Amino acid sequence: MSEQVLSARDVRMTFGGVVALDGASVDVRPGRVCGLIGRNGSGKSTLFNCLTGFLKPTSGHVLLDGRDITGHAPHEVMRAGIARTFQTPRIDFQTTGRDAVLCGLYPQVRHGFLASLLGLPGALKEERELNGRADAVVARMHMQSWATDQVSKLSMGRVRSVEVARAIAADARYLLLDEPAAGIGREEMKVLADEIRGLADRGIGVLLVEHNFSLIRMLCDEVTVLDAGSVIFRGTAEGARRDERVMQLYLGTAAAEAT
Ligand SMILES: Nc1ncnc2c1ncn2[C@@H]1O[C@H](COP(=O)(O)OP(=O)(O)OP(=O)(O)O)[C@@H](O)[C@H]1O
Ligand SMILES: [Mg+2]
Repeated sequence: MSEQVLSARDVRMTFGGVVALDGASVDVRPGRVCGLIGRNGSGKSTLFNCLTGFLKPTSGHVLLDGRDITGHAPHEVMRAGIARTFQTPRIDFQTTGRDAVLCGLYPQVRHGFLASLLGLPGALKEERELNGRADAVVARMHMQSWATDQVSKLSMGRVRSVEVARAIAADARYLLLDEPAAGIGREEMKVLADEIRGLADRGIGVLLVEHNFSLIRMLCDEVTVLDAGSVIFRGTAEGARRDERVMQLYLGTAAAEAT
């Protein structure tokens, strides 16, 4: 059996004259949290899009447990066991948080819409199971008190939590989170951090894009640092902290943000 790993291999992605990724590689392994960090515009979201079928790389490969899935459609990638969130949440704002989480369970539905409409016993049992699983994720993410509110009424932090919860509900083997902590409060951040660690402890491979370096240090088993579309460091968060080039990028960003 081939090794279990989700990999980007030498991925290049160009948009006209813009080189967003210039031969980037990353490995996400079951049970590990891999941080993907780098300045704004360094190619992190583009790499997510290449890994999940939203973009077909100009060249290079995406491998899932040894199988080449480069350029497969997003729904195929999802069915194969990879769930993701978006930097800008993509949720129907007219639905409730809980229903959005329920939608995340869709890749696992076995019975069709008609069977459920006809009230066939198997379909009803499955519906009960799915509802129970959605409620379990809602509880784990501490969303109970506001899960039935319409998404349009929620703060950005809570909208983000809904999106993360929906991705978690997909029960994927690999979970890709694009800045899940952006704009969320301290309490929500703690719930999120515990949940991410818990998912990895249950054997899920997590790829985490995050600008908050303390969160990266706390959560990640390893980090990959991108700059201008290329990997400039791969190792532990501690190693990244001691790497002069990486820290210069971070300090440069912090200094720029302070001005
Ligand atoms: N669809 C697109 N068309 C043209 N250029 C794009 C497109 N998507 C991304 N880019 C460019 O590719 C580069 C990498 O962008 P990307 O969004 O991947 O960066 P990022 O690391 O996620 O940044 P951020 O931290 O701001 O989210 C940038 O120069 C960006 O402008
Ligand atoms: Mg991004």
